[in-house]
This record gives sequence, structure tokens and C-alpha cells, in this order.
Amino acid sequence: MLWQEKHRACAAVVKRILFAMAEILVVFHSQTGNTKKLARAVVSGVEETENAHAMLKHASDATARDIKGCSAIVVCSPEYFGYMAGAVKDLFDRTYEELKDDAAVYKKPYCVIISAGNDGTLALAHIERICTGYRFKKIQHPIICKGPVTEEILTKCFDLGMTIAEGINAGIF
Ligand SMILES: Cc1cc2nc3c(=O)[nH]c(=O)nc-3n(C[C@H](O)[C@H](O)[C@H](O)COP(=O)(O)O)c2cc1C
Repeated sequence: MLWQEKHRACAAVVKRILFAMAEILVVFHSQTGNTKKLARAVVSGVEETENAHAMLKHASDATARDIKGCSAIVVCSPEYFGYMAGAVKDLFDRTYEELKDDAAVYKKPYCVIISAGNDGTLALAHIERICTGYRFKKIQHPIICKGPVTEEILTKCFDLGMTIAEGINAGIF
């Protein structure tokens, strides 16, 4: 891990402890930009909330430390061939062994956002199954965006980000 990345991760943990700040990890993969738009809308919703910070990371750059250190995780993936994006699966493959029995991720609040051409249910089911394996806790209904990203769906993602951040700060999740 680069020292800058280590420094950022430590700073986030210190901020969380000192200021009880909600730190929402938003991980994504995107090839043509749809999933990234949804992930960015979640980030905007989190950032709109007082005392909350969002960390937007491509799934390939996210680490076990990020998952351990955050207050909640939002997994954003396109559906490719009836599955999640390879980069998202790779994040799970890289971190599962380290985290599966770690108390720091037990009941970690999570939520899923899928971008799909016309379905999205299979990618969602696979991600949720894996999240159950980590013993994460689902805190919101998933959002599936079918087809082009609309203003309406971006608003839903924004609201989701806000709801998660406010819920964490209020101790609801
Ligand atoms: C290789 C590939 C496989 C895909 N497979 C599916 C699929 O199984 N089901 C579906 O609904 N859409 C499928 N799509 C459509 C994408 O899910 C959709 O275009 C999505 O918005 C892409 O997100 P992105 O722009 O973040 O990459 C596929 C697209 C690609 C490129």
C-alpha cells in the first residue's frame, strides 16, 4: 500500500473517532460511466449530510482496511453477463479471508446499487449473497437502474447516500 493511501485511511479513522464522523465507503466499477454516475450521486448525498464523509473508490483500489475502517459500504456494480463486474468480485476475493471473522465488519451496514441494461437482479443476488458471507447488515433496499441513467434514479441514489449518512449519525444503523 502506498504511504499516501495509508495516511488517508488513518486520517479517516482518526476523524471518525475524534468527530464521530460517518465515513461511507462507496466502491464501484464502471466501463461506460453509468455505474460511476450512480456512485457519484450517492457520494453527493453523503457529502450533503452534516458530519459525514464519503470515500469513492474504484473496486480495484479498495482494500480490506477501507472496509474495516468505514461506517458503511455502498457497493455499486454494473451487471455483466448476469453477474457483478469482475473488479467488484475481485474486491471480495481479495478481502474475504482477512475479514470474514473480523469483529470490525460484523453487521457492517451495506447497500447495493446496480446498473443494468434490462435486468440487474442476478448481479444483485450474487453481491447480496457474498455480503451475507461477510456478515454485513443490509440497511436499505437496493437500487437497480435499468437502461440509461435518469435524473429520477440519480435523485434516488442521492437520497440513499443522505439516508445512510443520517442513519449512521443517528445511530439507527
Ligand atoms: C460485457 C457486458 C455484459 C452485460 N451483461 C448484461 C446482463 O447480463 N444483464 C443486463 O441487464 N445488462 C447487461 N449489460 C449492460 C450493462 O449492465 C449496462 O450497460 C450498464 O449500465 C453498464 O454499466 P457501466 O456503464 O457502469 O459499465 C452488459 C454490458 C456489457 C458491456
